[in-house]
Amino acid sequence: MSAETVAVVPMTTDHVDVLMRYEKDMFGSEAWTRAGYRAELADPRHRSYVVAEDDRGDLLGWAGILIAGDQAEILTVGVVPGARRRGIATKLLDVLVQRARERGARELLLEVRVDNDPAQRLYEREGFAVLGRRRGYYANGRVDAVVMRREL
Ligand SMILES: CC(C)(COP(=O)(O)OP(=O)(O)OC[C@H]1O[C@@H](n2cnc3c(N)ncnc32)[C@H](O)[C@@H]1OP(=O)(O)O)[C@@H](O)C(=O)NCCC(=O)NCCS
Repeated sequence: MSAETVAVVPMTTDHVDVLMRYEKDMFGSEAWTRAGYRAELADPRHRSYVVAEDDRGDLLGWAGILIAGDQAEILTVGVVPGARRRGIATKLLDVLVQRARERGARELLLEVRVDNDPAQRLYEREGFAVLGRRRGYYANGRVDAVVMRREL
């Protein structure tokens, strides 16, 4: 399957039920709950969530953003293990960047675990630069966050 057959559509509560099968394995101590996702979807004024599906409607990945005034923040990005390195996270980020621009955001921020090399490479390639660190932000104070930023 190539990235060209991937559709990016708004996340629904049905998608949440499907992505919960992967959430714990993919995000470990940072995994969100079903109720957490549902609360995010209940705030469409500030938050926007999308999923990537293949042409059979199978879930390949998802991502979410918080847009508040001229600032936006990537809240989550995940691609299921069998669909990685096909440009799906890039595609999801591009849709969210577009959405943030349309709503007037001028800068985009995110936090990523200091030990999450694949995600940091992805964000660098998407134009993010390191802004700083948050000490002990993850895993009950054991793991730092790298804060990254790009202009929109
Ligand atoms: C990080 C993640 C979202 C990347 O998804 P993906 O769809 O595979 O990413 P893409 O195919 O769009 O990759 C774009 C670029 O990012 C970099 N990249 C992605 N995965 C990488 C890896 N495992 N190692 C090194 N670089 C990587 C590469 O530069 C890649 O371009 P290339 O494939 O042409 O070399 C995915 O690995 C994932 O879901 N990981 C677990 C959850 C997670 O860590 N999410 C981020 C939390 S902040």
